[in-house]
Amino acid sequence: MSLQIGVPRETFPGEKRVATVPEVVEKLKKLGFGVLVESGAGEAANCGDDAYRAAGAEVVPDAATLWSRADIVFKVRAPNADEVARVREGQTLVSFIWPAQNPDLMQQLAARKATVLAIDCLPRQLSRAQKMDALTSMAGISGYRAVIEAANAFGRFFNGQITAAGKVPPAKVFIAGAGVAGLAAIGTAANLGAIVRANDTRAEVADQVKSLGGEFVKVDYEEEGSGGGGYAKVMSEGFQKAQREMYAQQAKDVDIIITTALIPGKPAPKLITAEMVQTMKPGSVIVDMAGEQGGNCELTVPGEAVVRHGVTIIGYTDLASRLAKQSSTLYATNLFRLTEELCKTKDGVIDVNMEDDAIRGLTVIKDGAVTWPAPPPKLPAAPPPAAKPAMPPPAPKGHGHGAGEPMSAGGLAAVFGGGGLLFLLIGLYAPAAFLGHFTVFILACFVGYMVIWNVTPALHTPLMSVTNAISSIIAIGALVQIAPPVEAGLSRPEELIRWIAIVGIGLTCINMFGGFAVTRRMLAMFRK
Ligand code: NAI
Repeated sequence: MSLQIGVPRETFPGEKRVATVPEVVEKLKKLGFGVLVESGAGEAANCGDDAYRAAGAEVVPDAATLWSRADIVFKVRAPNADEVARVREGQTLVSFIWPAQNPDLMQQLAARKATVLAIDCLPRQLSRAQKMDALTSMAGISGYRAVIEAANAFGRFFNGQITAAGKVPPAKVFIAGAGVAGLAAIGTAANLGAIVRANDTRAEVADQVKSLGGEFVKVDYEEEGSGGGGYAKVMSEGFQKAQREMYAQQAKDVDIIITTALIPGKPAPKLITAEMVQTMKPGSVIVDMAGEQGGNCELTVPGEAVVRHGVTIIGYTDLASRLAKQSSTLYATNLFRLTEELCKTKDGVIDVNMEDDAIRGLTVIKDGAVTWPAPPPKLPAAPPPAAKPAMPPPAPKGHGHGAGEPMSAGGLAAVFGGGGLLFLLIGLYAPAAFLGHFTVFILACFVGYMVIWNVTPALHTPLMSVTNAISSIIAIGALVQIAPPVEAGLSRPEELIRWIAIVGIGLTCINMFGGFAVTRRMLAMFRK
């Protein structure tokens, strides 16, 4: 029997998002599930009851009906006390939960003997999990919205303009923290034409900042800020002092500051002090995205926009919800991808497979037993950092003697010795023409091997398609055959061969032009 997925109306004050949208309802139905939607659930995200009905969902009148009939409940915000009371034994809840911040909620949910999948606990470092990563989807949207909020509160253009009335300089935007939200903010502000600078404690993001059109501003202090798993760590006193000095200088110079700095499990670092706000130009704007974790600016009021010393400080904690249709669509897609993982059999039944690293990470309560925190997922062994910087000499890698290790002198001598002996034997016994072809064959293998192993793995796919195109050289064979014999006109077999050659040329042309076209498109993806 197929299970019913239920989507209630969000109860958190002001929350406009909804956990699924009509486009995704159709996909869930294709996986074999029934879908129940509480009446009005998608109203604030421009998804009316009729649209859900048209997509095949059943619209139920109230929350009580929904929770009592649904086998699986999809939510955005963590459930409140009323909703927890509605959770049934054996029911599955998929939602943001934040178990570390909500221990009481975890206990209450466990007491309901349900299974709870916290979308915020997804092991984001697994590449397979990216399609389910709602934190990233929401942070990207919020970063974008932060810039739009800043632009709304700012009294000038973002881009520089030369008008009949005079020259307008571009706005200067400083972004603190270049994680997902920060990078989205950099891209958006740069696209609006502002001069964008950014800083992060993790030096590795500098290239990403540049690629989005920003300038990375370094703190004049040597300390690596990576705390593992792509997250930051708390920095030393010395670093923090040097960072404060740099931020103080930026505050005097820029028009807009967007802060996104966060260290998991810690209060947000205080990066913008009250004195820095005082030194900012009147009319400047600060958007503090870390409001919910205490704020990166000392003067932030979480959830509100306030004016202090002539500077508008926006501490909204609902930036994603302010783009409700967009965030609901992405969130719904993330949950659909998760449902696909839970229901590989496509028969409307889920299997919470605790052997699967991604599912294990998400599952914070299994049938009433608290299973959070999950052990770290087994990742493919990362290459040791020391092996990274220097480009290895173009020696053949892998193949039986440890990836990347150059072959020892003895090994090399043995290979060449063996090869020489083989040639000698073939030369003694095989016909001369064969030896010629064989030599060309061996050389081709050698050159091919050297080419492929010296190309970065990321470029292997375009390489394959270009070699595919080059392999169309066989067209030359067909071209030779197409010419009619010069002497006596066309006899039967030659005519046949000629037609086969014409077909052959047609087919190789597809290969040739198609191969180059595909390579061009693939290489375009690597270019900025
Ligand atoms: P993230 O963890 O990917 O990024 C945070 C970045 O800040 C990291 O790159 C980290 O290295 C950097 N950072 C940490 N300490 C720093 C310091 N002292 N100086 C400079 N950089 C530092 O997080 P994500 O997903 O990008 O989210 C960013 C922030 O936005 C978080 O605080 C998150 O809670 C918040 N957020 C707020 C929303 C809202 O509606 N206000 C919505 C979504 C996210």
